[in-house]
Amino acid sequence: MTAVTETPVLQLSALSHTYQGQRRRTTVLRQIDLSFERGTFYTILGPSGSGKTTLLSLASGLDTPTQGTIRFDGQDLTQLGLGRYRNKHAATVFQQYNLLTYMSALRNVTTAMEITGTKPPTGRRKTRALELLAQVGLDTDMAHRNVLKLSGGQQQRVAIARALACDVDILFADEPTGNLDEDTADGIIAIFRRLAHDQNKCVIVVTHSQTLAAGSDRTLTLRKGKVSGTNKP
Ligand SMILES: Nc1ncnc2c1ncn2[C@@H]1O[C@H](COP(=O)(O)OP(=O)(O)OP(=O)(O)O)[C@@H](O)[C@H]1O
Ligand SMILES: [Mg+2]
Repeated sequence: MTAVTETPVLQLSALSHTYQGQRRRTTVLRQIDLSFERGTFYTILGPSGSGKTTLLSLASGLDTPTQGTIRFDGQDLTQLGLGRYRNKHAATVFQQYNLLTYMSALRNVTTAMEITGTKPPTGRRKTRALELLAQVGLDTDMAHRNVLKLSGGQQQRVAIARALACDVDILFADEPTGNLDEDTADGIIAIFRRLAHDQNKCVIVVTHSQTLAAGSDRTLTLRKGKVSGTNKP
């Protein structure tokens, strides 16, 4: 019997990245080889400055690596097109949220659906957006409030709801529970687990939180430009 091997949804090969500063070059990632599968929730740990956000920016198609290749479903991102990849296949919860600050929470979510052409399975975009905001613990009053009138943790949850709104294959999140209390963070972890296990998505989360790492299926650690360790084979 031949084993059926599924193509990884995301594959990083010999990935290196160097920032060119005014005075010096900083090599952040060194020859990284990594594969990510559907249906799996990954966390990436590592000290501050170790390159976690850099790795996420490259893997989510926001920046291009100095060296190496990134494949989505076996196709090189440069061939697929970074814009198309970001629009159709990957969604990101940014460390700094990157919300549209002149809009309400609700409009932030519906705008993301409009831009990516996401059609909710049932009902209208607005209904779906309110559902997602409720899932992350934001009520209708908060949904209609300008995002600058929400607390930091509430803004963080809008960023999560916005990423959930786009029906993509890979969800990237950069320290998504950094501003949340324990109970709210647990709720977000449960959402990530459901996305991976019930909807067969690939969820990749960068974090300093051991609780988040414990709730994930696989934990990778980034240190000195290299990725090591996974708690499961
Ligand atoms: N645009 C840039 N130009 C030059 N250096 C950069 C740039 N962006 C990041 N760096 C440097 O690259 C290294 C990795 O940064 P990165 O933001 O990826 O770290 P991180 O692991 O996400 O840290 P944190 O946990 O604090 O968010 C740091 O030393 C940082 O100063
Ligand atoms: Mg970072």
